[in-house]
Amino acid sequence: MGRLSGKVAIITGASQGMGEAHAKAFVAEGASVILTDVNAVAGEALAEALGSQAMFVKHDVASEADWAEVVAAGEARFGRVTVLVNNAGIIGTIAKTADLSAADFAHVCAVNQTGVFLGMRAVLPSMVASGGGSIVNISSTSGMIANVGTPNLAYAGSKFAVRGMTKQVAVEYGDQNIRANSVHPGYVKTPMMVAA
Ligand SMILES: NC(=O)c1ccc[n+]([C@@H]2O[C@H](COP(=O)([O-])OP(=O)(O)OC[C@H]3O[C@@H](n4cnc5c(N)ncnc54)[C@H](O)[C@@H]3O)[C@@H](O)[C@H]2O)c1
Repeated sequence: MGRLSGKVAIITGASQGMGEAHAKAFVAEGASVILTDVNAVAGEALAEALGSQAMFVKHDVASEADWAEVVAAGEARFGRVTVLVNNAGIIGTIAKTADLSAADFAHVCAVNQTGVFLGMRAVLPSMVASGGGSIVNISSTSGMIANVGTPNLAYAGSKFAVRGMTKQVAVEYGDQNIRANSVHPGYVKTPMMVAA
């Protein structure tokens, strides 16, 4: 029996990189996994390769309507969602602050920050009804300290925000047996970093 047997997990940004690795590890440990991503081709192929414990839903984490569909589709197939891994993220344009457009800033914040808020809000009712759950939000070392190598101010700000929002949810829902943790990786060689 795996360490995650009986768990139903949503993992965002699961078509490649760290999200793909999370999805593979969760299935190997016995979880049922709803993989989501804007990249449907790779996501569908991965879910198929992972077998009956996995399904894919095309999903933009910045879309409120998409979140409702992901939770509904996942729960129709596997039952109540008890784990959420908010992994999807983008770096945006590599630029110093004076050269960063307002549109770039807004786009990075929509995916990295609003997406994490929308995800937590979408699954909390299921977790409360289930008697507990676990939220894992992927931030960055850029959400802990200033790094010369951080792509831009929007990335740094959004990753600090993920850390703060995680702490807020942890204190709001801890007494309902819901854990919220942020993870702060350093450099990991994924398609994101190879492209940068
Ligand atoms: N790779 C690193 O060095 C590193 C370091 C620290 C933190 N992180 C964080 O880890 C997470 C995963 O990064 P990665 O390196 O695996 O990146 P990646 O680019 O390889 O994978 C990210 C995935 O998210 C998907 N995605 C992008 N925008 C989306 C959206 N709006 N809705 C749904 N899916 C979307 C992409 O299609 C892609 O499949 C990100 O939050 C990133 O900021 C990465």
